[in-house]
Amino acid sequence: MLVTKAIIPAAGLGTRFLPATKAVPKEMIPLLDKPSIQYVVEEGIKSGVKNFILVTGKNKGAIVDHFSMDSDFLARLETKNKAELLGNLSKIPSIAHFMSIRQDEPLGLGHAIWTARHAIGKEYVSIMLPDDIFIGPDPGLSQLIKIAAQEKCSVVAVQEVPKNQVSRYGVIDVKKQFSPNLFQVRDLVEKPSPEDAPSCLAIVGRYVLSPNIFEALESTSVGAIGEVQLTDGIQKLIFSGEKVFAYKVKGERYDVGTPLGLLKASVRLALQNQKYSSAMLDFLSELDREMIVLQGKAAKQRFSSSL
Ligand code: G1P
Repeated sequence: MLVTKAIIPAAGLGTRFLPATKAVPKEMIPLLDKPSIQYVVEEGIKSGVKNFILVTGKNKGAIVDHFSMDSDFLARLETKNKAELLGNLSKIPSIAHFMSIRQDEPLGLGHAIWTARHAIGKEYVSIMLPDDIFIGPDPGLSQLIKIAAQEKCSVVAVQEVPKNQVSRYGVIDVKKQFSPNLFQVRDLVEKPSPEDAPSCLAIVGRYVLSPNIFEALESTSVGAIGEVQLTDGIQKLIFSGEKVFAYKVKGERYDVGTPLGLLKASVRLALQNQKYSSAMLDFLSELDREMIVLQGKAAKQRFSSSL
């Protein structure tokens, strides 16, 4: 099975990052030294994706510009001997093709994916949610593509989350477990309450789906939080008799759709980056020393006020 297309839904308003996202797309906010969406695109390319379909909304032009070939800009950098500062980005337009489709109404993730239907033929397609970033040796999407090819069916990426956090995610109900990381899905539910969640295995932003997902989404009505949910579309695939698997992807996942998640991912990436790791370590040990002093002072205060 060849999976060469990825849909990246990037139409959200980015309200969790306001005021930063008033004029700048959330996906363009830097994670260490690159816009966060570039990590997602690089993961896709490493997994064999050649075509990216960006589902965008208002004020998202910068994303498309970022990935297009800009010969004038490149020539200007070259005259200043600074072209290498572009890093991987200079190669991306010659490896991958980008297309942007506008989602005119904010009707939810399921609707955003359905908007991209004309760009996909009768082929399995990957979906990459740009809020989810995976850091680890194997690209998250490539792990799913391997399983989809092996099992010849749709696969969703999952990770175990604490029970009190399940209501932020789509959660799977396991039909059968084949190995510590591989499951067949019986059902899925979007944003369940902890009491109603069928497991703690949450969908984490990477999917390889059968082309029938578009037909399924066509007839999916509004679900959790008043939006058309991709999770409900996948449930329809299962109810129509298709097999859907879930794979516990290896790697650390960060939710870069929140300021704290972005900060944590930046620190983690800095620690792995030759250019920044030793300065970042120095900074963290400085903070640690300060914390120890502060904790010591607080303990002293508690002790003297108890006398
Ligand atoms: C979306 C999906 C949800 C998934 C989550 C992963 O939710 O609808 O099923 O678990 O992404 O990040 P959102 O974060 O857009 O609310």
